Amino acid sequence: MSVSTSDVPRNWLTCRGAERALLINSLPGYKTGMLVGTCDADDQTNLAIISSHVHLGSNPPLLAMILRPNTGRSERHTLGNILDTRCWTLNGFTLDHAARAHQTSAPYPKTQSEFDACGFEEERLPAFVAPFVKDAPLQIGCALREHHPLAINGTHMVIGEVQRLHYPEAARRSDGALALDAMGLVAIAGLDTYTQPDKGLRFLPADTESAPAAL
Ligand SMILES: Cc1cc2nc3c(=O)[nH]c(=O)nc-3n(C[C@H](O)[C@H](O)[C@H](O)COP(=O)(O)O)c2cc1C
Repeated sequence: MSVSTSDVPRNWLTCRGAERALLINSLPGYKTGMLVGTCDADDQTNLAIISSHVHLGSNPPLLAMILRPNTGRSERHTLGNILDTRCWTLNGFTLDHAARAHQTSAPYPKTQSEFDACGFEEERLPAFVAPFVKDAPLQIGCALREHHPLAINGTHMVIGEVQRLHYPEAARRSDGALALDAMGLVAIAGLDTYTQPDKGLRFLPADTESAPAAL
């Protein structure tokens, strides 16, 4: 009996290169998509789509992200700028800006700002060096608190303290959280899929004595 190749389970360990990168990048599931705005000491601006954001703590308010290192083949302007100026901005975006946001991942030379190349307008806020995306529904300004080169694969974790925060007042829920769906914020899967989650299901904090209670 012959077995068609579609019946043979493909061993994920054997895939390499782009196929492997796409597979492993899918594993963390849906993540926040943010445009990271930075500039260097000469005010050359840069904008890059980044999805590896982590909430580290609320007091002080800390957000971290993982950045790939410079290699012989590619420069990482976001990382260099953050180490230069010790700050960055995170800018949420809506699905109608997804194509332009995705385009910021192209390897533009350092002298060409993705703000101009991809059609985003810069916004500067007083006493904050890094550029924001004008009219972004969510704007966060972070100051560098810790930088950890990770020995395991040469990536870098940068930890920032939130110093600026702007959102539409209507998106603030009565419990204090932000209704991300009300801002139309995009979530990202892997390296190529942009989607807009709806409001989903919400529950009260779980305890061991009672059944889950919907909000
Ligand atoms: C959907 C998506 C998510 C990405 N997430 C990250 C990330 O978390 N960390 C990272 O270093 N690069 C990430 N990238 C790649 C950067 O966007 C890309 O390397 C970009 O060119 C970096 O720009 P820069 O050199 O101006 O910093 C992502 C790309 C895409 C398309």
